[in-house]
Amino acid sequence: LAKVEIDLNTIPEGKNVVIKWRGKPVFIRHRTQSEIDEAREVNWQSLRDPESDDMRVKKPEWLIMLGVCTHLGCVPIGEAGDYGGWFCPCHGSHYDISGRARKGPAPLNLEIPTYEFNEAEGKVII
Ligand code: FES
Repeated sequence: LAKVEIDLNTIPEGKNVVIKWRGKPVFIRHRTQSEIDEAREVNWQSLRDPESDDMRVKKPEWLIMLGVCTHLGCVPIGEAGDYGGWFCPCHGSHYDISGRARKGPAPLNLEIPTYEFNEAEGKVII
């Protein structure tokens, strides 16, 4: 299976990067401490797709997920929407700073792909 390697040193804190993986967009966000705090403070048990932030990241500063809306597959826009994360303009789904579906028709959180970190080289392999 095709793998892709991304050098995380090139992504400053507070920035999003979109890469292509197997023909799909993958969102990588270098989260700030306040974004991490915000993601952790959510009462996640009450969400429609209940996942804690810890369940969605391997390292809190790196949020890595498929950029495919779980409603009908559009590509959400970063740094948009009512929850400080992503907004899908197709039918108005809002995702939070952990990529969790918060409002609109999306039934599920943005999907997390399988990935691993290469600590020595500061890279992630998806
Ligand atoms: Fe994203 Fe419908 S495809 S809200």
